[in-house]
Amino acid sequence: MTAKFAVAQQKGGVGKTTVAINVAGALADRGNDVLLIDLDPQGHASEGLGLAEAYETEAPHLGTALVDLESSDAINEVVYEHEEFDVVPSNIDMFTLETDLTGAMRSRERLSLAFDALDHEYEYIIVDCPPSLGHLTDNALLATRNVLIPALAEGTSVRALEILYDQIDTLSGGYDVEVTDVGLVANRVEQDGEAEDMMEWFDDTFGDHIPVWEVRKRVALKRAWNEGVSIFGHTEDCDMEDVFLDIAAHLEEVA
Ligand SMILES: Nc1ncnc2c1ncn2[C@@H]1O[C@H](COP(=O)(O)OP(=O)(O)OP(=O)(O)O)[C@@H](O)[C@H]1O
Ligand SMILES: [Mg+2]
Repeated sequence: MTAKFAVAQQKGGVGKTTVAINVAGALADRGNDVLLIDLDPQGHASEGLGLAEAYETEAPHLGTALVDLESSDAINEVVYEHEEFDVVPSNIDMFTLETDLTGAMRSRERLSLAFDALDHEYEYIIVDCPPSLGHLTDNALLATRNVLIPALAEGTSVRALEILYDQIDTLSGGYDVEVTDVGLVANRVEQDGEAEDMMEWFDDTFGDHIPVWEVRKRVALKRAWNEGVSIFGHTEDCDMEDVFLDIAAHLEEVA
């Protein structure tokens, strides 16, 4: 059985892609067979993994597997071998997917169907979601049934998390499935009063039922991204490696 996790939060720039790449890197570093799916039409993860060219390629691409109910198995044609783990990159043409899927049959199950059609059985699949609560994120939540939530340690996260949890409830109610929140990653944490207050709020609000990790603001994370790898594939040491290894160990445990 493949364990699958969506990295989701509708607020932009909170660290979804950074967390997705480095959690995939950590899982691979721990010896697992991992696939990362870039479901964001912006293609940041694809770019951050050295797949900028694939992002601009003609079909078939990930969108091909999602837009047409009969083409789910096209996903197998678009798996790229990255040095740390496999990647299904996003594509510039995926910007039309939200509209294309509106009103379409099984519009929120397309990624599930694509996963069912995968030839290779991975141990872990990580899905990087776009910064919105549309069909794409719904597809990721339904296909993985698990969500890892990145959030900035600032006041705006309170409302953002409320909205995300409402959507998870609506979706799981509507489809009669369980979507589990597996942990919260406070990201880009700096040492200031607001961050300390928010870390306390995260711990008080979530700490009883899910782990709350703290990823600090580190240029090493950006430098690895610019080199097309996770911090585990980068020569530079980063003191956040232990946090990502911790997250990976937890995902293995709940898998
Ligand atoms: N812990 C961190 N330390 C330093 N820089 C970070 C950290 N986390 C993220 N960043 C940087 O912040 C920016 C936003 O991060 P990222 O792209 O991962 O967020 P996102 O939620 O995926 O954004 P989007 O909503 O656009 O998809 C990027 O430039 C990334 O390199
Ligand atoms: Mg992103």
